[in-house]
Amino acid sequence: MDEAIRVESLKKYYGKFAAVDDISFNVQSGEIFGILGPNGAGKTTTLEILEGLHSPNDGSVTVLNLDVLKHPKEIKSRIGVQLQSSAYYDYLNLLEILTLLASFYPPNVRANPTEILRKVDLENKSRQRVNTLSGGEKQRFTIAASLINNPELLILDEPTTGLDPRSRRNIWQLIEGINQSGITVVLTTHYMDEAEALCRRIAIMDNGHLIAVDTPANLRASLEYQHAVKLTVETPLTEAQIVSLNNLDADIETKSENTYAIKLKGGTASLDLLLKSIVADNVKFQNLEITPVTLEDVFLDLTGNELQEAP
Ligand SMILES: Nc1ncnc2c1ncn2[C@@H]1O[C@H](COP(=O)(O)OP(=O)(O)OP(=O)(O)O)[C@@H](O)[C@H]1O
Ligand SMILES: [Mg+2]
Repeated sequence: MDEAIRVESLKKYYGKFAAVDDISFNVQSGEIFGILGPNGAGKTTTLEILEGLHSPNDGSVTVLNLDVLKHPKEIKSRIGVQLQSSAYYDYLNLLEILTLLASFYPPNVRANPTEILRKVDLENKSRQRVNTLSGGEKQRFTIAASLINNPELLILDEPTTGLDPRSRRNIWQLIEGINQSGITVVLTTHYMDEAEALCRRIAIMDNGHLIAVDTPANLRASLEYQHAVKLTVETPLTEAQIVSLNNLDADIETKSENTYAIKLKGGTASLDLLLKSIVADNVKFQNLEITPVTLEDVFLDLTGNELQEAP
């Protein structure tokens, strides 16, 4: 498969601070690739280097097989970019803004503004100004603007942050549709469910480091345990009961007097054994939660920190 992006040993410093610290990854043509990480991880800095807005201090970056330092103009003409925050002309309506943006590109490259508005379902808002749009509509408009040069690669910086669940799903569908039309997509997100739902592969970033790159399923499978169990009991477990649970392939952590967090290895077979053992030991439980591991657990396992979601 062709590569849309190749990043090798990339470093970016602000003074002595390494915002991006020796990261390498590639993005294959046709995939949706996500960069997942908390605030300050270095996601935007990485994207802005791909977009030619910052130059790296070290390492090499190619986009569409072109070196970002040698061919910034050609790259800019062939990619679409949605920045983390965008400002538009307040006195123009949506159609006028897209028409203006289209005029910056040669006729054989530019998309039809009305068609683009239809694609993002804003055709009936074409005479409105950006500051009159809802949050979700505004995000859809910024995606529309990024499609104006019929890009081969689309780079989206937190396309759904701050939106309600319905608007987020709406944007996911839009991004999937764009990808299905043959455009490679790279996006950043704080939301693990978004990374899981949309991305074929995910890079997990933290503190300027890239700590894992793989498919969501492989990342989850890389954990030692497959289920997280939270058991709340009426009276604390006895030593014997804890030993009996420990004999299953499990790590047990006492969260409070009556609550235990159990990391259960061995898949559904050991889940079955756990439930039988609880019944056999006559454990009186108040609550039992069983959840398959998530990317949140992967992040916690790799970094020791929670991946905090944006509000
Ligand atoms: N121009 C700059 N000067 C100094 N430090 C910077 C500059 N730009 C970014 N940084 C620092 O680099 C680090 C990474 O920032 P970046 O914006 O890439 O993070 P991010 O992962 O996109 O975070 P968020 O999820 O909050 O958008 C942060 O600690 C930030 O303060
Ligand atoms: Mg950012």
